[in-house]
Amino acid sequence: MHVYFAHCACTCLISIDDTSDQSKVGSKSISSSNPSTVKSGSTRSSWTVPSYKESRELPTPRTEGEILSSPNLKAFSFGDLKASSKNFRSDSLIGEGGFGYVFKGWIDEQTLTPSKPGSGMVVAIKKLKPEGFQGHKEWLTEVDYLGQLHHENLVKLIGYCSDGDNRLLVYEFMPKGSLENHLFRRGADPLSWGIRLKVAIGAAKGLSFLHDAENQVIYRDFKASNILLDSEFNAKLSDFGLAKAGPTGDRTHVSTQVMGTRGYAAPEYIATGRLSVKADVYSFGVVLLELLTGRRALDKSKPSSEQNLVEWARPYLRDKRRLYRIMDSKLGGQYPKKGAHAVAGIALQCIGINSKERPAMSEVVEKLEQLQDSKYNVAAPQVDTRRSSSSGSVPRSPMKAQPSPRRLSGSASPLPAAVGSPAAVGSPLPACRTAQVH
Ligand SMILES: Nc1ncnc2c1ncn2[C@@H]1O[C@H](COP(=O)(O)OP(=O)(O)OP(=O)(O)O)[C@@H](O)[C@H]1O
Ligand SMILES: [Mg+2]
Repeated sequence: MHVYFAHCACTCLISIDDTSDQSKVGSKSISSSNPSTVKSGSTRSSWTVPSYKESRELPTPRTEGEILSSPNLKAFSFGDLKASSKNFRSDSLIGEGGFGYVFKGWIDEQTLTPSKPGSGMVVAIKKLKPEGFQGHKEWLTEVDYLGQLHHENLVKLIGYCSDGDNRLLVYEFMPKGSLENHLFRRGADPLSWGIRLKVAIGAAKGLSFLHDAENQVIYRDFKASNILLDSEFNAKLSDFGLAKAGPTGDRTHVSTQVMGTRGYAAPEYIATGRLSVKADVYSFGVVLLELLTGRRALDKSKPSSEQNLVEWARPYLRDKRRLYRIMDSKLGGQYPKKGAHAVAGIALQCIGINSKERPAMSEVVEKLEQLQDSKYNVAAPQVDTRRSSSSGSVPRSPMKAQPSPRRLSGSASPLPAAVGSPAAVGSPLPACRTAQVH
């Protein structure tokens, strides 16, 4: 077995073995029919976006034809989407990921036909790079799940386009973009503590909804770039291309091809291919650390002992007196000490090595919501800012340099050596996506 990683913009899919993949979605249907021949909803003359009504209906395996004829989704023609995004012009571009580009477009709210830029409803159009089977499979999985799952913390899929080799997805537009951009993009306004907590709660609720659905869903790609924000910083999960049906009966996991993003993927999942909801809980813990520290899950630009966020941060999470050392300097010390310590404690549980001991997402939601109570939110600053970090811009309360946390024992590998897979040990990779093993 060998592993290779194909470069792309920001995430890494890791694959060690495909033989045991129990995928219920996509695999059967992909080979069964040509998407462009499937009945298209584009002939409908009138179509409205379904309103938010929680829906927990979930897929039993469906054929591609069944998936694409979902009554909740509009089938767009390529020409329509081209027209609604000004020919996919660069000034309509709002983002790029490993699988494609995201453009801003405008459509009529009632008919969902292209409208003049600036009028009607704004949408985000993801145009997949033409890349064959894997891209198509993920596209179809996304259509399958988001065509059926509706919740205020999941991004709304309005429709799709399957036209020749073109595969596109049309989503509600999320005006504040991704959490990743807010936390890490140079020049971005710092997020306050209150907003960070709000985002964490929204994202946790999205995961909790998936995990507690009658037919459980494992999200598998929880990370800052997949958390999108509306104008009020309500968080919604996007990118369901890697989502997987959870185990049934007494089973605790499903065996799958290992896919996900370096730095976020749970070590036991990478090592064994056994996927459970607790892998999502681990990834959630990593995002909590990103929110606390303002550091990326994996950062190759840092000294090797600091590249992997989990390894770097773990020793600081338990101790109230040491936590301030790793807090995001962009908070300017404006956070409640007690609340930060509590979030650190939750993160520590989520990134626990023993997956069974990690909390359920519903518990995480409950604990995080408690932190919005005044008890934990007594007026900031609660910290000794004299010893905090200065590595980022601190607009309102300039501070002196934070000593870099002391060198940690352990390697820079994204995974603890004891549980690391051959695919992962000793290879601190940037958070970039796509890998396969043959
Ligand atoms: N519905 C949306 N509304 C507004 N912006 C969006 C929307 N969907 C995506 N974006 C923007 O486009 C960017 C790229 O998204 P995309 O999902 O393609 O890639 P990614 O999440 O960054 O990486 P990956 O390919 O690993 O998922 C996002 O980070 C976000 O800024
Ligand atoms: Mg994404």
